[in-house]
Amino acid sequence: MSCDIEIDINSEIDIIKENNPYHVAIIMDGNGRWATNKGKLRIHGHKAGIESVKRAIYFALKRKIKILTLYAFSRDNWKRPEQEVISLLDLFMSALEIEVKNLHKHDIKLRVIGDISCFNDNIQDLIKYSEMLTKNNDQLILNIAANYDGRWDILESVKKIAQQVHKRLLCPNQITEDDLISNLSTQESSSVDLLIRTGGEYRISNFLLWQIAYAEFYFTNILWPDFDENAFDIALKSFNLRDRRYGRILPNE
Ligand code: IPE
Ligand code: IPE
Ligand code: MG
Repeated sequence: MSCDIEIDINSEIDIIKENNPYHVAIIMDGNGRWATNKGKLRIHGHKAGIESVKRAIYFALKRKIKILTLYAFSRDNWKRPEQEVISLLDLFMSALEIEVKNLHKHDIKLRVIGDISCFNDNIQDLIKYSEMLTKNNDQLILNIAANYDGRWDILESVKKIAQQVHKRLLCPNQITEDDLISNLSTQESSSVDLLIRTGGEYRISNFLLWQIAYAEFYFTNILWPDFDENAFDIALKSFNLRDRRYGRILPNE
């Protein structure tokens, strides 16, 4: 049986063992339950969640992870009570305002992925300023997914490609995966190696759908505000034990 997929035999070494994941994505879930368990309002969980975000960023930097993508707010989160949504956006805005200089100092490049067009002008301006300030940094790419939706991301990419076809810059039968990838919000930093979800749910909740095709999944019951360096380290150790086969078999199997 033959198939005209090009196979790079030399890359077999890649599947034997990888050390650190290059791109880690995290679904930071469980803030509300963390607060409720303590008899507090949900917003206290979101505040504590911000501290956990900072801890995760600097741990990723220390562990030389190159890309960290954090799910901060999904397009479906608008369905929550208005007061919670307002508080979440206020927290996001003030955390970004306070932290952007530190991110820059640590050579971190910040990108906000998601549909930011429906945020108010103040938030959009702050996002643009933060991205501009940090755009040449290269220790860590930090993608914050805000008003993000994985299906929307793919659809937007398809629309951009359709425009290129419409302008006759591209032929439909010449469209490649790379065309689609380069038009995704994550751009060149697309493939996720390790996807972590805290909070005990076993679902993707419309996060990076294209980008997780070969990601290793790690689910933990730990609620996001309790996800500390030790918990992150355990997730990395679990990743290190995985055999990533990409459809092939290992040389000694
Ligand atoms: C994740 O925590 C944060 C956001 C979705 C913004 P949740 O707010 O979903 O917390 P739980 O899942 O209700 O505990
Ligand atoms: C996913 O968490 C979104 C973020 C972490 C920002 P949700 O709490 O919104 O997901 P569901 O509703 O449990 O699927
Ligand atoms: Mg949740």
